[in-house]
Amino acid sequence: MANLTNQKDKLSLLRPILERRSIRNFSKKTVSKKEIEIILEAGQRAPTSCGIQFYSYIQVNSQRKRKMILDLVKENKALETAPLWVFICCDAARPLKMFEHLQIDSYLGESTKLLHSLIDASLSAQNIVIAAESLGLSSVFTIYHWRALEQISKLLDLPMNVLPLLLLCIGYPKEKPPLRPRRSGRIIWHKNKYIMPKKETILRDYNRANIELKRTKYFSENVDGLAHHWEKKFTRNEMVLREKNLRSVLQKHGFLPKNV
Ligand SMILES: Cc1cc2nc3c(=O)[nH]c(=O)nc-3n(C[C@H](O)[C@H](O)[C@H](O)COP(=O)(O)O)c2cc1C
Repeated sequence: MANLTNQKDKLSLLRPILERRSIRNFSKKTVSKKEIEIILEAGQRAPTSCGIQFYSYIQVNSQRKRKMILDLVKENKALETAPLWVFICCDAARPLKMFEHLQIDSYLGESTKLLHSLIDASLSAQNIVIAAESLGLSSVFTIYHWRALEQISKLLDLPMNVLPLLLLCIGYPKEKPPLRPRRSGRIIWHKNKYIMPKKETILRDYNRANIELKRTKYFSENVDGLAHHWEKKFTRNEMVLREKNLRSVLQKHGFLPKNV
């Protein structure tokens, strides 16, 4: 157990959190079995709703499946170079099966399944990210597979009530981008009630972050975001279509009622 005698020691424990950044170019060095075991344990130590663990991890190391997924999500450097791929899945199927085996008469509605599993899976995913950082590894969350959720769910043999939420790429970094800017804490942290920041405050904060972003030689509009990029990313026509697809997958997999 670390000796927390002064502030510096405490802050050094936060290093994997405060210095983490997404990495999209990985070296060829593989992630060992031991490292995977530690990562798995860290993921599982995250708080979990009722102790149930509404999530599953699917490591993909079959070259054939990786190629099929890459073909579906299109060319992508992070996916191509990452030695370790882990799908973090919302999983209400295994908990329901456990209830069935225990002869527990339980009913989990779609919203309950969705919220519990989203929270559980996300918390455990972030624990994995921080554990990886602590081991000197790096990572990036990706959601490119959302473009082909149906095909990918089939490829992974996912039953009803399992949803591949994030594809986490892990490996040793081959780049060191600077920390990406964040919104100012002042517009994020509220006291006692929500206060929408004034237009000038929001725009000042946006401009400050952009100046910081553009200063970095690593700046990439594709992933780091600027208004015109967000605009391109979230065009109405494109999003209406994606919404429709996402809704139908969520319904099919039991995470949204059929009649919405
Ligand atoms: C839900 C979620 C989805 C993401 N999807 C992608 C993605 O598909 N591709 C990618 O390159 N980065 C993705 N990211 C990483 C973000 O772009 C990144 O965290 C953000 O730009 C901030 O950069 P940082 O992590 O280096 O601080 C995702 C992150 C989250 C939380």
